[in-house]
Parts: sequence; C-alpha cells; structure tokens
Amino acid sequence: MYTQLEQRGMAEPPVNVSTLRTMKEKGEPIACLTAYDASYAALVDAARTDLVLVGDSLGMVIQGHDTTVPVTVDDIVYHTRAVARGLRHAFLVADMPFMSYTNAGQALDNAVRLMQEGGAMMIKLEGGKGQIEIVEHLARHDIPVCAHVGLKPQSVHKIGGFKVQGREPDKAKEMVGTAKRLQDAGADIVLLECVPNEVGQATTKKLDVPVIGIGAGPHVDGQILVLYDILDITQGRTPRFVRNFQKEHDSPLAALQAYVLAVKNREYPAAEHCFS
Ligand code: KIV
Repeated sequence: MYTQLEQRGMAEPPVNVSTLRTMKEKGEPIACLTAYDASYAALVDAARTDLVLVGDSLGMVIQGHDTTVPVTVDDIVYHTRAVARGLRHAFLVADMPFMSYTNAGQALDNAVRLMQEGGAMMIKLEGGKGQIEIVEHLARHDIPVCAHVGLKPQSVHKIGGFKVQGREPDKAKEMVGTAKRLQDAGADIVLLECVPNEVGQATTKKLDVPVIGIGAGPHVDGQILVLYDILDITQGRTPRFVRNFQKEHDSPLAALQAYVLAVKNREYPAAEHCFS
C-alpha cells in the first residue's frame, strides 16, 4: 500500500516535502509555478517544475478581479481538483483564500477541504504573528503548511497597494523573526514575496525549511512566478520581478522548460528582477 505515491508511471518518484528539504540542503534551486487547470498543469509538469501552486492569484488572472480578495474556498477547491489531474511529478500546494483561516478551527476545516476535495498536498496561508497559533494547530493535525510572508496580497487594502516590504532595517529584522516563528510553529515551507535581496538572503540562512521567493532575490532556495506572467498572457504592467519566457520560444512548453532551466542555473532572477 505504501508504493502508491510512487506509481504514477514515472521513472522517478514524485516530489514530496522531503524532496524539497533535501534540495535546500544540497543547494539545488527549487523551480515553482502557479497553475489553475489540468492542461497547463500537464505542461508545467512536463517542464519538470518541482512545485505547483494553485494560487489565489486566480482571482486576478482567471476571474479578472483587481485583487485576490474575492476568491473563495470553493474556487480554490475547483481549480486544485483540475490541476491535480494534470500532475504526475510536481508537488501540489493550494492557497487558503481571504478570510478562510481567521481561527484555528476554520483553518483546519478549510485545509481539509483543499486536501480531501482538491487533492492538495500542502496548503499555503498568508502569515504573520497572528497566524502562529493557526499554523501550530494545522501542524498538530499533520497538515503541511507553506507560510507566505513579505508582501501579502490579501492585505492589499490594509497596506495601501502592492508594495515592496521590509526595506526598513527594523521591519526586515521583524520579518525574518516572524518567518522563523512560523517555521518553529510547524510551517514546512516559507514563501517570501516582494522583499529586498538582503531579506531573502537573511531568511534563507536563518531557516531550515525551504524558502521560495517571488521578487525576493537570487539567494532564496527556490523561485515561483505566476504562470500567465511568464507566458506573456497577462496584459498591462507586470511586476519588476517578472520575466517573459515566451518571448524567445515558439511554444508554451519550451518557455516553461526555459524558466525551469533558468531557475536551476540561477540565471533567473537577474539584477533587473530584484529589489534593494
Ligand atoms: O496566489 C499566488 O499565485 C501566489 C504567488 C504570488 C506566489 O501566492
């Protein structure tokens, strides 16, 4: 019975939480992307992406909202179920949307939905000091957790826009400390969004768990980007950390393979994608 996870017709076993930890220990960059449906998930998987996130960014790139705030648990369950059908190799993480984890009990109920109904292997929540107890509660129930710190898009109306976080030394120190507390509470991965390179580096050094960055510089353990941004589907202005991988390639699969290679070779992110 214990062989099932390794029987998806692949030569190698699929990525799991230990694989990601070993990659950090060995210094092998972890290539991650978002996906929202089975067809793109299959392409992202074929490109040998290590981790796929069904992000609440789907509220913006799929549903056309200006923020991630309107996304519901039902939306994430629906898209996670579709993505799960497209994956054979990558580790599947699903986002807990806005107000779906206001207390430990609600968080556990919704995390269970994402795993049982959606097929997620880990849930992600936007975390600060206020979420430590929630992470502890989830970890106590063996729910794998990715804690998202730095720029937290679900707080956009509180912050007053999508802005780089942790530029002031005291804020940077506090952020690294919060990431450590989330790890100690049981988080298995920390995702760091939109912070100066130094904050990415300090967090990565401080933590034992993998640190995945989006706009967090080159010193983190892995990179993640929104699929539609790198395939040049997103219209209008994209954030500084985005690189268009479709430009030099004639198929989406070739563009995705180029992204994975650029992450593995540490060619992405370059200086122009980083914050100081
Ligand atoms: O929702 C999402 O796609 C995310 C990424 C920005 C990492 O959280």
